[in-house]
Amino acid sequence: MNYHNVQFEASYGTSSQLPPSDLPEIAFAGRSNVGKSSMINKLFNRKGLARVSAVPGKTATINFFHADGIRFADLPGYGYAKVSKGEKRRWAELIEGYFAQDRDLRVVFQLIDMRHPPTADDLTMIDFLIDRELPFVAVLTKADKLSKKQREERLAALERELPCADQIIKIPFSAETGEGVDAVKAIVAEIERD
Ligand code: GTP
Ligand code: MG
Repeated sequence: MNYHNVQFEASYGTSSQLPPSDLPEIAFAGRSNVGKSSMINKLFNRKGLARVSAVPGKTATINFFHADGIRFADLPGYGYAKVSKGEKRRWAELIEGYFAQDRDLRVVFQLIDMRHPPTADDLTMIDFLIDRELPFVAVLTKADKLSKKQREERLAALERELPCADQIIKIPFSAETGEGVDAVKAIVAEIERD
């Protein structure tokens, strides 16, 4: 994969607008503010590719990018309390609609803030992925914000906190330092070989 060849495709606000799945697809899921858009920008080494914000709920649409025949989907974050009921319903429709489609989804990068235990919404999402037998990898974001000791504590705790923890690949990741980028790219390379 030549990560320079990335192109923004389009944004979708309702699942009925989503184009058919005609390329192998990789999705980025996780609660609002966990770092999905930052991760995409870090992978492609382009600051403004996906919009990042300190204000949660920045990505309210599904945003598609593609590079070398693979589609990348930046999903809107869940779990942000300060949005209207109507907005929440729209997000739910969008994400549920996305996963209900028969898409050529090769892996979901499920982001979890490494500083904290998974939220109830994170666990719902992970249960859903397991239930649907969708391949996923846990990306533990903001790793740069933890001390060595905190990191070890969180890694140990996740073994208890995540369902089927021993079967889940976990990649500590930092959009600040670039930690984890190579591990993520190795997974993308595996998908390309399939
Ligand atoms: P939504 O679009 O709201 O769903 O959020 P998102 O998951 O796309 O998060 P986004 O990438 O916009 O990042 C949210 C905030 O976290 C921003 O202020 C980022 O700069 C910060 N952030 C993201 N990743 C990291 C990281 O690895 N380390 C640090 N220190 N900050 C990060
Ligand atoms: Mg975002």
